[in-house]
Amino acid sequence: MKAVVIHKAKKVEVEEVPDPTILKPNDMIIKVTSTAICGTDLHFYNGLFPIEKPIHLGHEFMGIVEEVGKNITHVKKGDRVLVPCIIGCGQCYFCAHGLPPHCQNTNHHYGPEGNDKEKGGGVFGLGEGNGNYDGGQAEYVRVPWAKFGVIKVDDQLKDEEVLFLTDIFPTGWAAVERCELKGGETVAVFGCGPVGIMAQKAAWLQGAGRVIGIDVLDYRLDLAKQTAKSETIHAKKVNAVEKIREMTEGRGADVCIDAVGLEAQQSFWEKMINAFGQQAGSINALQSAMSGVRRGGIVSAIGVYGGNYSNFSLGQLFDKALTLKSGPVPLPSGLSELTNLVRERKVVLDDIITHTLPLSDAKKGYKIFNDKQDRCLKVVLKP
Ligand SMILES: NC(=O)c1ccc[n+]([C@@H]2O[C@H](COP(=O)([O-])OP(=O)(O)OC[C@H]3O[C@@H](n4cnc5c(N)ncnc54)[C@H](O)[C@@H]3O)[C@@H](O)[C@H]2O)c1
Ligand SMILES: [Zn+2]
Ligand SMILES: [Zn+2]
Repeated sequence: MKAVVIHKAKKVEVEEVPDPTILKPNDMIIKVTSTAICGTDLHFYNGLFPIEKPIHLGHEFMGIVEEVGKNITHVKKGDRVLVPCIIGCGQCYFCAHGLPPHCQNTNHHYGPEGNDKEKGGGVFGLGEGNGNYDGGQAEYVRVPWAKFGVIKVDDQLKDEEVLFLTDIFPTGWAAVERCELKGGETVAVFGCGPVGIMAQKAAWLQGAGRVIGIDVLDYRLDLAKQTAKSETIHAKKVNAVEKIREMTEGRGADVCIDAVGLEAQQSFWEKMINAFGQQAGSINALQSAMSGVRRGGIVSAIGVYGGNYSNFSLGQLFDKALTLKSGPVPLPSGLSELTNLVRERKVVLDDIITHTLPLSDAKKGYKIFNDKQDRCLKVVLKP
């Protein structure tokens, strides 16, 4: 079968690889019908995350059940299913407490510490540190622990309408949910990429009174206005923090969400420490979120970071009495409820798709998405 494989930074290929097979009774094999490229894939593409050996990329995918292991009874061959990006066992302490990304059983690198050596649970297509699972940017994929998480999807919902339930909409939803809005809050979202726009959509649904999207690219701000009905700030044209304060009687937003992560533009100092391998990327976006939020407010970080960052302003966190929330998407928890929002047309997710390409064009898809060419916001690949 064909699969998207990354060998080293910028070297993504569509290759012929062996077909996956059932290895355990809880496995299933999916014939992938749609898969997407995520900002998280770009961290490998841009050399910010380690590629110890070639990785079969892809953690946002759905498809048709091809074969099931003997423990799988909730779906059968031929069913259309969504596969959450996070692999949980469904039984351990964390899976039982709504925290499957911290599953103790799905990653041989699991550990309580949360560093390079001790990670959380398994994730598709994110390499050795995340359990070494082959990803879904492929014709077929083995889905382990499929009893927990994989759900059937109604035939009246098109792939595109539900695909983003496998990662980015639940990610944006969780970013807002962690802030426990009471209604009427001002929510400022740094980043109007696919994840930031999903957070903006989720903010309205959870009762925000005002939603502000911040980015450094005009076309992404236009797309945030169109798809999430947000007010926008261009962070290269104005000082975004000052603008947020100006819009909120000098206080700052009640909630700031960081949907940028480590790929924000680096300061000179950060470039130096990155060059010496002492830091992965930048925490500029997180720092702006901490400045842009009001005293006593909540910063919710869904942008991904890795390792230690020396310029984190802990003093500001204390002085402003901020609450900092973060973490990977808590999928598969909540997947059915969020699917209902799509089924009931309370939210539209497919309006962020700007490019649909055959899987064989994945290399081109990565380049367009990474380089922000051709007003690209989200690329869907069709095997
Ligand atoms: N927590 C999770 O479970 C989870 C899930 C999916 C993705 N993510 C992470 O979310 C982040 C965003 O993903 P994406 O797919 O939207 O990626 P993306 O690269 O398409 O979007 C990032 C956006 O941030 C903008 N940006 C860069 N610097 C900025 C700055 N200083 N201020 C404001 N905007 C700035 C970019 O122009 C871009 O539009 C990534 O770090 C990704 O790894 C996390
Ligand atoms: Zn993703
Ligand atoms: Zn578990």
